[in-house]
Amino acid sequence: MKKFFWLLLLALVIIQFFRPEKNIAATTATTDIATKYTVPADVNAILQKACNDCHSNNTNYPWYSNIQPMAWWLASHVKDGKRHLNFSTFTSYSYKRADHKMEEVIEMVEKNEMPLASYTWAHKDAKLTEAEKNTLINWARQVRTEIKKDSAF
Ligand code: HEC
Repeated sequence: MKKFFWLLLLALVIIQFFRPEKNIAATTATTDIATKYTVPADVNAILQKACNDCHSNNTNYPWYSNIQPMAWWLASHVKDGKRHLNFSTFTSYSYKRADHKMEEVIEMVEKNEMPLASYTWAHKDAKLTEAEKNTLINWARQVRTEIKKDSAF
């Protein structure tokens, strides 16, 4: 039992050296959603506190993100989140894809599927109020109108 404990401790020490690369961009991407579509300050504040950690090129890391295996777990969420939707590369999406993503935003927020429960558990202020949800949903609808105007499909 004692031997097992020491091995576990050793393993924990060793994995600390394997750090995933952090998701931090030096500048705002030229393909950021705000470069083309309207993102009012109140919407931006909601995205910033509840979505951008996993859906943009800039994650605001908590202290425990420096500890393994926590960092791996966070990195996989960020990678997965960005693969599905990245506000930093939003204008590089086709109109059809961008429109569909906004449709998904409305659905995810309505169904309380986003932000992820594991995220709001650690970030209490990211739990959206009904008013914040409405703000986000109305904004996503607005962006869909803008996309439609742009593309005329
Ligand atoms: C902790 C990380 C995290 C946070 C915070 C987060 N998401 Fe996600 N999001 C994910 C992951 C991971 C996926 C993909 C897997 C899934 O659907 O569960 C995803 C999927 C999505 C999708 C589906 C995209 C598609 O077409 O498949 C939408 C839309 C979305 N998120 C919107 C949001 C919005 C809006 C917020 C803020 C209110 C938010 N997310 C906050 C991690 C996150």
